[in-house]
Amino acid sequence: MAKIVGSITTSHVPAIGGAIAKGMQNDPYWKPFFDGFPPVRDWLARVKPDVVVLAYNDHGLNFFLDKMPTFAIGAASEYRNADEGWGIPTVAPFRGDPELSWHLIEQLVAEEFDLTTCQEMVVDHAFTLPMALCWPDQKWPVRTVPVVVNTVQAPLPSAARCYKLGQAIARAIASWPGDERVVVMGTGGLSHQLDGTRAGFINKDFDLKFMNSMIEDPDWATKYSITELVELSGTQGVELLNWMVARGTMPERVRKQHANYHLPISNTATGLMVLEPAA
Ligand code: DHB
Ligand code: FE
Repeated sequence: MAKIVGSITTSHVPAIGGAIAKGMQNDPYWKPFFDGFPPVRDWLARVKPDVVVLAYNDHGLNFFLDKMPTFAIGAASEYRNADEGWGIPTVAPFRGDPELSWHLIEQLVAEEFDLTTCQEMVVDHAFTLPMALCWPDQKWPVRTVPVVVNTVQAPLPSAARCYKLGQAIARAIASWPGDERVVVMGTGGLSHQLDGTRAGFINKDFDLKFMNSMIEDPDWATKYSITELVELSGTQGVELLNWMVARGTMPERVRKQHANYHLPISNTATGLMVLEPAA
């Protein structure tokens, strides 16, 4: 039986890729953000995952507004990155795990989660940058399964639905006969809004409550509608839905291994958490 050894949830701002390319990790603007990651890398070195299941939202690289699945999952043997127009270097391809992907697909469809299955898929900054923050040498030591959540174009899946998707992913991983050690990642958020009259909106109070709920009250955010979550966290802050998927894969009781919160990076309040199942 494959085992989920923990979750990593983090923001995914494109400018991080520029800072990495320019070696600005110790620059005063960037240091409080990058300093969040050495403890994550120490933890990864300890838990030694074989596979990362990574929940994120695509920003127009793989899906565009003309075809927008609510949930999609990769079933490829390799996932390439490509230029999104941010002027950041592309990264080396990621190994997939088609066998585990198809097992997840079969189990999830059987549980009435009808994900779009992608045997070809390019992955954007929401996938590549969190991976690069975890493995700065970019020699990815893990196989990957991308899970894509529509946080972009209305109507979005509810926080409750995303949490339940995570729970179903956990059951599917538990029923996989392999002995893989799995880390589930969720990327995006926390509060930010890139467009409209509220551009630049940040809500630290909500972010800190949300991060605390990840530890103590995992379905806390499910009491809010999508409209309320957008009001509270911004039109892009609602990327926290990816955190709900990751949190749903974890048991109700967790131990916080590590957390960081820093704002702003570009327009975004950045959050980072590492959770482990409570003993
Ligand atoms: C920014 C944040 C995002 O989540 C994103 O996908 C693109 C840009 C930003 O703050 O610049
Ligand atoms: Fe984003």
